[in-house]
Amino acid sequence: MRLSPAMTDIESESATEKRWWMNAVTYQIYIRSFADANGDGIGDIQGIISRLDYLKSLGVDAIWITPWYPSPQHDNGYDVADFMDIDPEYGTLEIAQELIDEVHRRGLRIIIDIVPNHSSNEHQWFQAALAAEPGSVERDRYLFRDGKGVNGEEPPNNWDSVFGGPAWTRIREKNGELGQWYCHIFAPEQPDFNWQNPEVRDHFMQVLRFWLDRNVDGFRVDVAHGLVKAEGLPDAPFQEHFGLLDSRDFPYWDQDGVHEIYREWRKLLDSYPGQRMAVSEAWVNPPSRSALYVRPDELANTFNFDFLTAKWGRDSLQKSIDASIAGMAEVGAPVTWVLSNHDVVRVVNRHEMDFISHDVEALSGVPFAQVRQFDAERAIARARAAALLMLALPGAVFLYQGEELGLPEVLDIPVERLQDPIWEMSGNKERGRDGCRVPLPWRATEGGAFGFSSNGELTREEAWLPQPQDWGQFAAEVQETLGHSMLHLYRNALRIRKTAPSFASSYFHWIDSSNGSLVFTRSQDESFLCIVTFEEGETIPPQYEIVIGSQKIDSQRIPPNTTVWLQRTA
Ligand code: BGC
Repeated sequence: MRLSPAMTDIESESATEKRWWMNAVTYQIYIRSFADANGDGIGDIQGIISRLDYLKSLGVDAIWITPWYPSPQHDNGYDVADFMDIDPEYGTLEIAQELIDEVHRRGLRIIIDIVPNHSSNEHQWFQAALAAEPGSVERDRYLFRDGKGVNGEEPPNNWDSVFGGPAWTRIREKNGELGQWYCHIFAPEQPDFNWQNPEVRDHFMQVLRFWLDRNVDGFRVDVAHGLVKAEGLPDAPFQEHFGLLDSRDFPYWDQDGVHEIYREWRKLLDSYPGQRMAVSEAWVNPPSRSALYVRPDELANTFNFDFLTAKWGRDSLQKSIDASIAGMAEVGAPVTWVLSNHDVVRVVNRHEMDFISHDVEALSGVPFAQVRQFDAERAIARARAAALLMLALPGAVFLYQGEELGLPEVLDIPVERLQDPIWEMSGNKERGRDGCRVPLPWRATEGGAFGFSSNGELTREEAWLPQPQDWGQFAAEVQETLGHSMLHLYRNALRIRKTAPSFASSYFHWIDSSNGSLVFTRSQDESFLCIVTFEEGETIPPQYEIVIGSQKIDSQRIPPNTTVWLQRTA
């Protein structure tokens, strides 16, 4: 191994006031699938409260709750009917307040999902728009347009919905005749707002205040790159199915106008005490384009999807890490690292199979049936190695529930149980994202859907998405008792990350390696090293000892698909 000159010292910390989001580890709670306290087979807020001590002991700094607002649940809460209330399935405003307070009592932070691109079709504004005339103020809050063709029978442009099929639906006017069309980048039950309308902007300022007044620490901004559409809603340059993960230039993604909105939001966030923040979900490329969302006067963090979509391999990961660090350095924002979320195939399967989207056939040409035949041992080894790699990098981390249990994607949910709108809207071509959203197993035994539900009578099939028969082996309770479990790996790594002096700064620099592995240090004196191996192994350099490893290492030889953190002994 040869040492090379420092490549990156991403920021001078002394120049930047320390903000909690710069290196926080945030745990994403997919509320429907986390913990069910009222026994109906659906996760809820009280369930989250009952598991806060687990999260505290895991060592995360913050939690992010996916949408908890009243919703007809066409897209599991991402179709919001009222942005200032709680869905009765999940609790009440009082229980939400209890959660916020309980989180803070434990010294943790809480951010909530905000969904500004669209509402539910059951939102009172959309209902009013349907009842009103073309050209009315009610219609102007959404994107209503006349259709093309002699009788307006063709959609206003050629945009496709992310979930499949056209992004336009035609309505019946009050007189019973077919009339205007409205735009929905997602499901027809998710009409897009018109962000050129000041009333929409004012409404969201009010929504942000509503929750900031209740003491949330921040927001995860859903589809942050989609709010503003290109002037005149022009045709797309191509028409082909366009998934959420696809970030090519498109008239409804990443228009410059979105940044003005976030500048306004930032001012509001900064006007509150206690370091309030927002993180954007913006599927844009390259990382230098993502960086625009986190300029000093915009949002705090943006999810690093470049890293999430990088394939398991030295070159692709190194390229992504370099581009991510360089992109954020341009604007002085912290880099974020994400391996999974509720929209992508779980990392255990993904790094083994080289696919990212649930649209397996379309994106990788891997027939769905083959996806099941994978090398499980290697898959877990890679997921463990990826976790330690991610947790050794400088910046903030977002974990997705179940990642710390090494949950695999559930590939065989019976089609009649699939819930994701993608299944229907793709004409049954894509199974959708349900496989990464199956309720968590908390206990080894099957009662109460492996402890997901307080209702001991509830079977694993009765949970809102059915759990596989062997789900109990991944249960948190089981993993507590096994020293080498994924849960212990995450917990130990999070503890070291928080306490080891090498992690105190954002210093990062590559060290050359001749064995196809990635090697970097997090301390100027190189007393700390992280080594990630791929197809070949690597030898532990002299005078270093292992602090933590993703595999058990008996000799000085690090096996393939392994990450180790090393500390110099002398
Ligand atoms: C969320 C998805 C959701 C979509 C529409 C996203 O990017 O993460 O789960 O379906 O926005 O709101």
